[in-house]
Amino acid sequence: MASKKRQYLLADLCSRDDHRKPEHSKMNTSIDPQAARIRASLLAWYDAHRRDLPWRAKSGVRADPYAVWLSEIMLQQTNVATVGPYFGNFKAQWPTVDDMAAGSLDEILVAWQGLGYYARARNLYKCAGVVVSEHGGVFPETEDELRKLPGIGSYTAAAIASIAFDQPCVPVDGNIERVTARLYDIDIPLPKGKKDIHAAAQSFISKDRPGDFAQAMMDLGSGVCAPRSPKCDICPLNADCQAYKTGNPARLPVKAPKKIRPERCCVVFWLENADGDVLMQKRPETGLLGGMTGFVSTSWREGAWPEPTEIETASPLSIEWAEIPGEAVHVFTHFRLTMRVLKGKAQKGANVDGFWVAPTLFAEHALPTVMKKVIKLVGENPS
Ligand code: ADE
Ligand code: SF4
Repeated sequence: MASKKRQYLLADLCSRDDHRKPEHSKMNTSIDPQAARIRASLLAWYDAHRRDLPWRAKSGVRADPYAVWLSEIMLQQTNVATVGPYFGNFKAQWPTVDDMAAGSLDEILVAWQGLGYYARARNLYKCAGVVVSEHGGVFPETEDELRKLPGIGSYTAAAIASIAFDQPCVPVDGNIERVTARLYDIDIPLPKGKKDIHAAAQSFISKDRPGDFAQAMMDLGSGVCAPRSPKCDICPLNADCQAYKTGNPARLPVKAPKKIRPERCCVVFWLENADGDVLMQKRPETGLLGGMTGFVSTSWREGAWPEPTEIETASPLSIEWAEIPGEAVHVFTHFRLTMRVLKGKAQKGANVDGFWVAPTLFAEHALPTVMKKVIKLVGENPS
């Protein structure tokens, strides 16, 4: 049972060899021989097997804090493979934080298209501005100072502080969470188990090369200690891994059953003028997809389609609308949005709220993926 096995953990972890109390573990990790062995094996493995990533400094080279920050913001909710080209493009368009602060939010939102979670792009721009105006274009080096910047939470602060400035902190992402849960056989279901896993991760932090240590944990989690089939036979930490010893590491970390995602529904208006341009609007700056460009739509109703009267009120013109067959679906973190699309033709000179965009020029606007799904549905149903 979870609770029985776990009693061990933090107490055991910290007292196994030297009778330290848990709260001291953070300060005195170097005396724990097991932790010391884990650190040494992991760093040696990293020196031989580290991934070459676009934002990662070459071995022995100081990391560029701007590149570390930019990549960590992108990696918050997006995987390494997807981030690669976006990172390269951003770095080419805005080589330094000063260049980014001197750019415009619209340019950033356009370049961000497809990465999702657009609040990140707005905060990226805001953060560049603050770093330039309040820190002279130089990123602060400590976790606490970094956390005060827009868009930087505790995970990202720890990641930047360790990778860019070699501060002794561990950014516990999904990979590090999994490796740690297995090393110390922590089976309290997530998210409840997070606290113990984080404490355990803190307990074997490396003061020697903390940046490499954090990245080594990420690489190990991604390439060796994989979610479904960990390659324990080639793992540099197998001699010290509790879950390996008990024989079933793949079951860790245990996750609490997922909540069902609520459904929201809306009707989108695809209004074309005589030239075939389509009506678009800029969304308000705040809220989900703030500042992004989109088609006119009704509100996103929870669990039901909008009533005919709401559809009528939201429509940009009182004309004949034809429903496009099928639905477009987009899954956000906290809900699923199903969209029906109504297509209509505007008379010449019709007075509408928004602006007209030729379909060939859609790419120039900051279109979120949810709107691209509308375009796709319309494209699949030519009239
Ligand atoms: N995920 C989050 N940050 C990362 C990094 N710096 N390298 C690889 N994967 C990551
Ligand atoms: Fe993960 Fe296996 Fe290595 Fe343990 S021995 S850290 S479970 S790959």
